[in-house]
Amino acid sequence: MQFSTRTTPPGRMRAGCALVPVLAGKELTAGGKEIDAVHGGRLAKMLRSGDLPAKAGATLLVQLDGHLPRVLLVAMGDAREATEKAFTDAVRGGLKAAGQLAADEAISLLHEAPVAGRDTDWKLRAQVLIGREIAYRFETLKTKRDPQPVRPKRVVLPVASATASTAAVAEATAIANGVDMAKDLGNLPGNHCTPTYLADTAKKMARELGLKAEVLDARQMQALKMGALLSVARGSDQPPKLIVLRYQGAGAKKPPIALVGKGITFDTGGISLKPAPEMDEMKFDMCGAASVLGAMRAVAELKLKINLVVVVPTTENMPGGRATKPGDVVASMSGQTIEILNTDAEGRLILCDALTYVQRFKPTTVVDVATLTGACVIALGHHHSGLFSPSDALAAELQDAGRDIGDSCWRMPLDEEYQEQLKSPFADMANIGGRPAGSVTAACFLSRFAKGYDWAHLDIAGTAWKSGANKGASGRPVPLLANFLLARARG
Ligand code: BES
Ligand code: MN
Ligand code: ZN
Repeated sequence: MQFSTRTTPPGRMRAGCALVPVLAGKELTAGGKEIDAVHGGRLAKMLRSGDLPAKAGATLLVQLDGHLPRVLLVAMGDAREATEKAFTDAVRGGLKAAGQLAADEAISLLHEAPVAGRDTDWKLRAQVLIGREIAYRFETLKTKRDPQPVRPKRVVLPVASATASTAAVAEATAIANGVDMAKDLGNLPGNHCTPTYLADTAKKMARELGLKAEVLDARQMQALKMGALLSVARGSDQPPKLIVLRYQGAGAKKPPIALVGKGITFDTGGISLKPAPEMDEMKFDMCGAASVLGAMRAVAELKLKINLVVVVPTTENMPGGRATKPGDVVASMSGQTIEILNTDAEGRLILCDALTYVQRFKPTTVVDVATLTGACVIALGHHHSGLFSPSDALAAELQDAGRDIGDSCWRMPLDEEYQEQLKSPFADMANIGGRPAGSVTAACFLSRFAKGYDWAHLDIAGTAWKSGANKGASGRPVPLLANFLLARARG
């Protein structure tokens, strides 16, 4: 589904279908009235019939003729001014209904509906992101593809002024491209998406978008003394990788922002083996990696004026004859030693060495993204990602970026008091802190390595994918990250 803007008045536009918003169950917007006038009041008449429920997302098809053969009236809810939720429900309902019609091109006037506290650009971005979400398919591993084509193929958004609106649509399109990439990587199973595959994908993206790519192998990790990362890879026959991508949009002098993503391509738990039910979902344990690669794609496509480094430590977590055992003590790249009491708490082990490694780029700000703890799902469910940061300013930036683009995070505590739970009699720290506040002690563990820069940690265990009938990667938090970086680029 491709989106574009056009400044032609809606009444004169040619398309297979038009999505026309209806406010408070009866009222048309300016563009809707224009179309209605051209078609002899047919829309107003349909609305008087009372056949369109006011509920946001309800639709009513009106057959017209000439250069606009169909209109889909789309209810925006009972209020004249829609809430964000009513608006997004209406966009979803409208685009899905349009997809049932034999029209390849649609025009959408839905952004003419007023939304409390939101401007036109926000409404344009929302339509692009929702449309692309509806259009997403993951069929690369099926021999028989869905014969139904994705419709509408093209959506034209009539706007008053081309410049600002076109930028908004371009931003949302780049973000959607990043989201699609993150979904594709997340959905690809562990036998296809190995650390080597992730590294090759990163290199391919680097060639396509002119990024610098470097991939470290086990030998180089050894030389850097990344004992924590290597301890996770020990049980696997797949070689681990440390992927580094660098984008320079702001000149060589400016210090970069860095994103670090957890890339466990399959998490069996290791010797602390996970139970069988739903273990397949642990192919999604590289969604942090996928999201930072997706955010990099959006940034590079938009040529943002920032410098960005993406670091992805990636390995499988497997049991095996050489696998790390509970009680083993390893030395991290930082020099700090870790008693591994549970080999299933592996995310923090690969991230801690990446957080030390990233110091060499002298970043101002580092955000790590990880499907880190089941405890975060218990705490927050599937709506907000967990946000942990010692910096109020950085936490606020990330919260605002997420809220603005419908990819929210909720700040969790990170007080000193929780650090006690990580005490070990045999090493500088243990890799687990017991049952209480499991997502907090995981973040506390990472905080011991995140030194020399402003740092935030996003626990996406509850938001990176959906379970059940609609199982699949969500692409979150690519929108949050990209929106955060867009704001940084604006300065
Ligand atoms: N990848 C998991 C976290 C996870 C579990 C995400 C379920 C989403 C759904 C992580 O590596 C893990 O296993 N964490 C353990 C930590 C525990 C051993 C302290 C967990 O959450 O159970
Ligand atoms: Mn685990
Ligand atoms: Zn894991």
